[in-house]
Amino acid sequence: MKKEFTVVEARMVAPHVASLTVLAPEVAEICKPGQFAHVYCGGGVYSLTRRPLSISKVEGDKLGFLFHVKGEGTKWLADRKQGDLVDIMAPLGSGCYELPENGNIIIAAGGIGLAPVIHLAQVAVAKGLTVSMVFGARDKDNVYCLEELERLGIPVQVATEDGSVGGRGFVTAPLERALQAEKPTGIFSCGPVPMLKAVVKLAKQYGVPVQVSMEERMACGVGACKGCVTTVKDANGTHYKNVCSDGPVFKGEEVFFDE
Ligand SMILES: Cc1cc2nc3c(=O)[nH]c(=O)nc-3n(C[C@H](O)[C@H](O)[C@H](O)COP(=O)(O)OP(=O)(O)OC[C@H]3O[C@@H](n4cnc5c(N)ncnc54)[C@H](O)[C@@H]3O)c2cc1C
Ligand code: FES
Repeated sequence: MKKEFTVVEARMVAPHVASLTVLAPEVAEICKPGQFAHVYCGGGVYSLTRRPLSISKVEGDKLGFLFHVKGEGTKWLADRKQGDLVDIMAPLGSGCYELPENGNIIIAAGGIGLAPVIHLAQVAVAKGLTVSMVFGARDKDNVYCLEELERLGIPVQVATEDGSVGGRGFVTAPLERALQAEKPTGIFSCGPVPMLKAVVKLAKQYGVPVQVSMEERMACGVGACKGCVTTVKDANGTHYKNVCSDGPVFKGEEVFFDE
């Protein structure tokens, strides 16, 4: 669906990270965890391509986005105010996080990879799953919105690279401790590629299925331009898939990280 939705809240949650909430009952009703929106981000050269942003949370008829203010597009979007209209295509992506029917899951997020997993956590808790989370960030300025998880009753273990919040080091340290303590039904991850690669390796080592959300630069967002292809592998070798229409969530074992 493509429509102009009304902004109901816009604020900065960290010096470089914005939160935007829009009233979008049609999308809120049907979107699944891991799906994303393609958002129009202003005029000029930026009118040509939309920006892909994960649907970060769903509260009633509202959708929340959490995004890094990086370049012109996200700067424009972060400047929106309550009452403004934003042109959004959503929900997009057919590869979503597939939750198990029961058991305990671990969510492993790094940096702005927190965005899609808040919605995932909402759905998992509503389904009655036991959820724990490990979160990694560079430093304290990159630790935000964890209260959203705590409000859902999810314990969060934090690791920062400089040790300013939680343990010092990478998110894989608390993840490995959690895996040593108890075998989860699944691991669900989003973050930078090196982190996803390490998470998939750990999951394999501990024999736990893992799903990861991938990112590529996108143009059309709907599988038409082939601008977002990624290499995946199976027993028959390697193939190309569109991150936008086949993903953005893939099974850990099918992602080809070395290319
Ligand atoms: C499916 C999907 C979901 C996403 N969800 C989120 C989200 O929830 N929150 C969030 O902050 N970001 C998310 N992103 C990334 C986001 O789309 C980009 O940060 C955004 O498009 C940048 O737009 P811009 O106009 O600010 O920057 P631009 O001026 O377009 O780019 C600025 C710089 O950012 C880098 N960059 C831009 N896009 C990407 C990308 N896709 N991958 C790697 N580097 C990039 C490049 O180095 C570029 O030079 C997602 C991307 C995908 C594909
Ligand atoms: S962005 Fe066009 S095919 Fe994925």
